[in-house]
Amino acid sequence: MARILITSALPYINGVKHLGNLAGSMLPADVYARFQRARGHEVLYICATDEHGTPAELAAAAAGQDVMTYCEEQHRLQHDIGRGFGLSWDWFGRSSLPQNARLTQHFAEVLEDNGYIEERTDKLVYSIDDKRFLPDRYIQGICPICGFPDARGDQCDNCGSLLDPIDLKEPYSVISGSRNLEVRDSRNLYLVQTKLQDAIRKWVDAKPEFSSLARSIAYKHLDEGLIDRGITRDLSWGVPVMRGGQPRTGFEDKVFYVWFDAPIEYIGATEEWADATGGDWARWWREDQGAKDVRYVEFMGKDNVAFHTVSFPATILGSGEPWKSVDNLKAFNWLNWYGDKFSTSNGRGVFMDQALELLPSDYWRWYLTANSPEHSDTAFTWEQFQGAANKDLADVLGNFVNRILKFAEARFEGKIPAGGEPGPLEDKLFAQVSEKLAELTAQFEAIEIRKTAQALRALWVVGNEYLQEAAPWTAIKTDPDRAAVIVRTAINLAALYARVSAPIIPDAAEKIAMAVGEPYPPTWPSPDARIELSRLEAGRAFSVPEVLFRKIEDDQVAAWTERFAGKS
Ligand code: MF3
Ligand code: ZN
Repeated sequence: MARILITSALPYINGVKHLGNLAGSMLPADVYARFQRARGHEVLYICATDEHGTPAELAAAAAGQDVMTYCEEQHRLQHDIGRGFGLSWDWFGRSSLPQNARLTQHFAEVLEDNGYIEERTDKLVYSIDDKRFLPDRYIQGICPICGFPDARGDQCDNCGSLLDPIDLKEPYSVISGSRNLEVRDSRNLYLVQTKLQDAIRKWVDAKPEFSSLARSIAYKHLDEGLIDRGITRDLSWGVPVMRGGQPRTGFEDKVFYVWFDAPIEYIGATEEWADATGGDWARWWREDQGAKDVRYVEFMGKDNVAFHTVSFPATILGSGEPWKSVDNLKAFNWLNWYGDKFSTSNGRGVFMDQALELLPSDYWRWYLTANSPEHSDTAFTWEQFQGAANKDLADVLGNFVNRILKFAEARFEGKIPAGGEPGPLEDKLFAQVSEKLAELTAQFEAIEIRKTAQALRALWVVGNEYLQEAAPWTAIKTDPDRAAVIVRTAINLAALYARVSAPIIPDAAEKIAMAVGEPYPPTWPSPDARIELSRLEAGRAFSVPEVLFRKIEDDQVAAWTERFAGKS
């Protein structure tokens, strides 16, 4: 039994996430966690909300709430929606809790002791009326490129240009509207990544398991040359800058930059888990306390890769302490909405809360796994979604399970029938199932998300072909023992489907498992289909589950297409 630590990128606190966020980090992490638990490994799947930074402050202000109340509410909301999707986090933490603050302050101290943190002076915009420095997003003005009147300090939403707030024309404070602004010096802490460049490259070189997308992004940044990064900001919402247990002189009104503390929350959330459950967090994170045996896998979208292959490793390596670092980094491309981006403000695309109002989570889990934006950007379309649900789930899996159980109930009084011996058709089935099961297991192990779904579907198809060929409804007329063998084998196959489908479609798998009296959550089957398909003993009672998957109708597709198209 191995120990496997799994994290998915921490979703920002501001707002419910869309299906692309789910498909590119949390869902594949969950599928992998469920699979490895079924294999009998000790799994810890950690996630949390990423709560600090300007966007959180702005969103709270827009909602008319203080930032703590806002974060508390949004955390609860994201937690509940995640659970609605069956995300089996062992812990869903919060980066604004004391565990993360202590760890973040600790890392900053040891990094400074090791010579990797320096104080430097920045020229920043100060609002005299607000009595504070303004982060880029708190400053708006006329875009120097296109003349758009409300360009943000960091970027113009009209022409897309990246901006420096100092270049905006007629700039004003987003907080007060005041134009009484000036440029002032501000002292900040810098993480001197240039000094860690060689160590980070060696570290990446020693990670052969990283997905090719992750490796190419890491090397692109290393080849371009790392830059030193400011890790403090003139904000009040964040981890206070401390030194030796005291506020650091000159930094009383500053906090650590959100991207400095966010990845540390992977560890912080594990501490939260330990505090709540009596677990041992150090056993997962400290190589001097048992974490050498841990296999650590991270899941994230490609925009997060640089932070996890350069910045966070700089924190870990620069500390000089024996922290566990990631073994396999699985990165994802974008899921788009018909070739365009999801957009909250334009109402384009389905967000996680809306998805659950339309259909149960298994529909989404199946589609987003089978069409994972794994090796390239992928477009969501309703037509594809309808096809995946109706063909794969309803016609192939659902049909098999309902058909055989209904037939068996009518002809064998709701009990698995005795009699007969497996024949040539069963031998063929055992061989096919063994082969496809080996393929499925290998794809799960390799975290090849799309291929995993393909292999699972192939396994479902084999069952339908077997039923078609063996035709128990014909056999029953002339040879009841033969019909008994087929029914017994097919019900065993349904039980096997419950076990192997559970990582991707846990709710349907549980219904099937309950119907045939299989324990849930299930264990992963052995490679020998002959054994696995002869497990359920004759005489055992079963029930017929309600229809597992309803078909999605064309008029539903038409209505949803219109509703989620967004304003152009
Ligand atoms: N909140 C970030 C995003 O959604 C991801 C943070 S991952 C972390 O892009 F590890 F740094 F927290
Ligand atoms: Zn512009």
